[in-house]
Formats: sequence, structure tokens, C-alpha cells
Amino acid sequence: MGNMDGKTVIVTGANSGMGLATTIELAKLGAKVIMACRSEERGRQALEQARAASGSTAIELMLCDLGSLASIRSFAEAYKEQYDRLDVLVNNAGVISLKRKTTKDGFESMIGVNHLGHFLLTHDLLEMLKAAPQGRIVNVSSGAHKAGHIHFNDPFLTKGYNVAKGYAQSKLANILFTKELAKRLAGTKVTVNSVHPGAVGTNIGVDRNTGFGKSVLRMLKPFFRSPLKGADTAIYLASSEEGGASTGLYFIDRKPAQVSKRAADSELASKFWTWSEQQVRL
Ligand SMILES: NC(=O)c1ccc[n+]([C@@H]2O[C@H](COP(=O)([O-])OP(=O)(O)OC[C@H]3O[C@@H](n4cnc5c(N)ncnc54)[C@H](OP(=O)(O)O)[C@@H]3O)[C@@H](O)[C@H]2O)c1
Repeated sequence: MGNMDGKTVIVTGANSGMGLATTIELAKLGAKVIMACRSEERGRQALEQARAASGSTAIELMLCDLGSLASIRSFAEAYKEQYDRLDVLVNNAGVISLKRKTTKDGFESMIGVNHLGHFLLTHDLLEMLKAAPQGRIVNVSSGAHKAGHIHFNDPFLTKGYNVAKGYAQSKLANILFTKELAKRLAGTKVTVNSVHPGAVGTNIGVDRNTGFGKSVLRMLKPFFRSPLKGADTAIYLASSEEGGASTGLYFIDRKPAQVSKRAADSELASKFWTWSEQQVRL
């Protein structure tokens, strides 16, 4: 992995699982890391953990709830006031919700947080990434995108909600976003790629209020990758020289991999971009 001295990185969902592992590793490589988290309490705990594990004091916490357009907007404003550069944005935060939930703006939570929140955040930070010597965006998607469709007739799944359908839609969204953004960034120095981290033992799917899902996680843990192993490709794309050489691709285990037919559909990517802009009111 490359030296990150002098570089500044934002990691979303940085207080748990792969976001925390990514924060620690990039800090060890010399980066200044801003942990974008929705919960002050979980964020503070993770900040202490990240500083202790990396031996770096150049890690800060900033609050950002990706389930609220207003919160994203004020995070981006505050960031631009406090920091004068951004080299890497790791769009890592994600939710899996067994029951249908909505964000503050009324979006179904998985497409709302996993995609639309990151769509707006990236938009708001793009000028700063363009001003960096070599800006990079890493979108954490999933192999689950392969089962995904964009349900234009009912994107927020008000009828016939099911978790697999919603999660797969949101992870397909991450790849379509990556593809269209790479096209729009042609001629700039900013690259954008997506990753599938593998099956990783984290808190994903565990209800933060009730703890529901913890026992399943404990049972399956021996079969999962560690958060650090899962985060390896995102860290590679964020920090290595080779990782900055490609754009618009989907990576598994540090190598470009094939996406589903729908994820490779340029027309769909362009139509979905327009839909996303409308949702976040751009
Ligand atoms: N684990 C796997 O097997 C796997 C496989 C493929 C892809 N992925 C992807 O990997 C990424 C990281 O997930 P993980 O497995 O590391 O799960 P995790 O341990 O549950 O971490 C998810 C992070 O996202 C944050 N988050 C959730 N909702 C948010 C919101 N509204 N605003 C800001 N942050 C929010 C969480 O914060 P709180 O702690 O406050 O909830 C947490 O920090 C996700 O995009 C996921 O889809 C995971």
C-alpha cells in the first residue's frame, strides 16, 4: 500500500466493521482521516479505538447522518470550512434492514443511505476532490448487486418490501453510480471505483436499537472474513499507486471483476443518475 503522508481521507460509517478497519489502516499509512459517523457516542468510542490501534492522532470525528439530506449538506459545509483538501472519499456506510424503514426525507432506508446519501455527499465534495493532486472515490458495493434491479415504478418499495430486493437494488445503485460518475469525470484527475469486500463478519444487519441479529452473526462468524481482510481492496484502491490507475471499475480482491448485465448498462446508469439527482433535489 502507498504512503499517505499529507493526504486527507473521509470514511463514511467509520465507527464499525470495515469503515473502522479502513480508518485505522489509512491512518497507519500516514493519512489524516475524518471519520464520518451518524452517532456521536459510537463515533467517539471508535475514534479512541482508531487512535489507539493506529498510533496516529491525525484522526477526527465529524457527524454525518446519511439518512438526512440536511445532515449531509451541513457535514459537507463544515468539512469545507475546517479542511483545505480532500484526497480520498471512501463511501463505505451501509445498512441492511429486515423491516421497511425510511430516512428523514422519506426514502426507503437502504437505497436512501447506501446510495442517495452517498450520491449527495459525493456531489458536495466533488470540487474539493478535483482540486487534489489525484482525487479518489471508493464506493463499497457488494456481490449482492447481481440480484438487483432498479424498480423505477416503486423505487422505495412501498409494495412487496423484502430485504433482499431492497439491499440488492441499493448495491446495484452503487455500481451504476460509479460507472456514470467515472464517465462524467473523464478529463479530470479524479478516479472512482467500486468494490465487493467478500462476506465479512461485521455489524451489518444487526439492529442498533434492539441488537437483533447479533446471535446469527456470532454463529456465522467463523465463516466470514475479518473486517480488515474485507477492507483490503478498499484500502488498496484508496492508497496504492496501482489503485489510482483505473476508474469506473468493480474490484474483488484487488482485481477488476465482472458486474451483472444490468450493472454494465450505460443507459440504465444515465437514467438512474437523473432519477438520483431529482431525489436529492439537485
Ligand atoms: N459485511 C459484509 O459481508 C458485506 C458484504 C458486502 C458488502 N458490504 C458493504 O460493506 C459496507 C460496510 O459494512 P460493514 O459490513 O462494515 O457493516 P457495519 O459494521 O454494520 O458498518 C456499517 C457502518 O455504516 C454506518 N451507517 C449506517 N447507517 C448510517 C447513516 N444513516 N449515516 C451514517 N452512517 C451510517 C454504521 O453506523 P452505526 O454504527 O451508527 O449504525 C456503521 O458505521 C456496507 O456498504 C455494506 O453494504 C458488507
